[in-house]
Amino acid sequence: MKIAIIGSGGREHAICEKIYESKKVAEIFCIPGNGGTDKISKNIDINIKNFEEIKTFLLKEKIDMVVIGPEEPLVNGIVDYLNKNKIKVFGPDQFCSQLEGSKIFTKKICKSENIPTAEFKIFDNKEAAFGYINNKNFPVVVKADGLAGGKGVYICNNVLEAKEAIVEIFDGKFGIAKELLVEDFLEGEEMSFFILYDNTSYKIFNTAQDHKRVFEGDMGKNTGGMGAYTPSRLNEKILQEKIINKIILPTLNYLKINGGKYIGFLYAGLMIKNDEPFLIEYNVRMGDPECQTILPLLNNDFVEILENCIKGNLNKIQLDWKDKKSICIVLTSKGYPENYKKNILIEDLEKIKLDKDCYLFHAGTKFNNNKFYSSGGRVLNFVCLDNDLNLARKKCLNLIQKLNWKYGHHRNDIGFKVIQNS
Ligand code: AMP
Ligand code: GLY
Repeated sequence: MKIAIIGSGGREHAICEKIYESKKVAEIFCIPGNGGTDKISKNIDINIKNFEEIKTFLLKEKIDMVVIGPEEPLVNGIVDYLNKNKIKVFGPDQFCSQLEGSKIFTKKICKSENIPTAEFKIFDNKEAAFGYINNKNFPVVVKADGLAGGKGVYICNNVLEAKEAIVEIFDGKFGIAKELLVEDFLEGEEMSFFILYDNTSYKIFNTAQDHKRVFEGDMGKNTGGMGAYTPSRLNEKILQEKIINKIILPTLNYLKINGGKYIGFLYAGLMIKNDEPFLIEYNVRMGDPECQTILPLLNNDFVEILENCIKGNLNKIQLDWKDKKSICIVLTSKGYPENYKKNILIEDLEKIKLDKDCYLFHAGTKFNNNKFYSSGGRVLNFVCLDNDLNLARKKCLNLIQKLNWKYGHHRNDIGFKVIQNS
């Protein structure tokens, strides 16, 4: 088979590696890919916003299946567009992708289907929103409706902060904003919960916990993710059943009844309080860096899973997981998520020896003249599996130390809530 992957992050390199392991695959293309995917597939330099150019390439190469990594093309309707051109795609259609593309769309489903989530109100002007927050207990959470690269959520501790957030959103910080969302702050512990879905049946695709803040102790600015571990410590059967029955199934039923077609991963961001799950948000893709921690635990042929999912035959698949834990530590460019340098040589990257159960997934890298250079904020993902999460973390940290990239930053405390003595 010939398979194409859309995207250029650590998630897409992890997907590419897993596809590369499959006996069913003859050739892999990554659009546009990164320095890591360059080694095991062909990187194709097409802008992922340009659906027509992507389609032309896929048809010319007679690609059998395309996997969409990031949210933006999904929200912009790449699946509908490619399906119309008879190309097989692993990803949800544009209607379903509103789950991530519009937080208000999701909240309305929560309301109509009785899905547990934070109390909320939708506003279409500043004054009404100001009036509402004047009478609220703090913190409150103010959210832009659409995609905002993880930056459209404001946890506000007082009226002033909330007003600032409301003004920024309505003034267009994340594009034209007709409406915004104000919701109650949920206390508890977060959990990322993944399923695979073929529009009829679903399979739980593990759980994880990511660390979004740039500094240790979960301090500093929000980032795309500084690391993650799997499984989440909250992953137990009764809670799982509640998540499926109270949150996932009502959502999937709603989408189906309303004409959506959902093929792919669904990622529920949850808050767990007193053993009860609340939906914070949906993403219509795998998480990054959660994907990098979860996929190495999978024993199945990943291509077989993708194929069966597209055919609506997911029920024929029995997922088979390694009985281990996994941790991912992200090495970023110093200064990320604010200002950082690009195009810095990463010396000796190919000299890093990976023991069994250790993986190195590239994100913001490119391969030029036989050398690797940084090309983004999140640069490399170090992933190690072990029965003991502490040992897995030590292995990751050893690898980072060996690389000793002077321009890099990472957190030493990924998993601190579950790893003792950290
Ligand atoms: P989101 O982009 O919706 O995932 O929000 C980013 C982060 O903001 C989440 O991972 C949570 O840590 C936090 N967050 C969002 N909504 C709430 C809420 N209602 N209560 C508490 N924390 C929240
Ligand atoms: N790890 C957070 C995300 O992928 O959105």
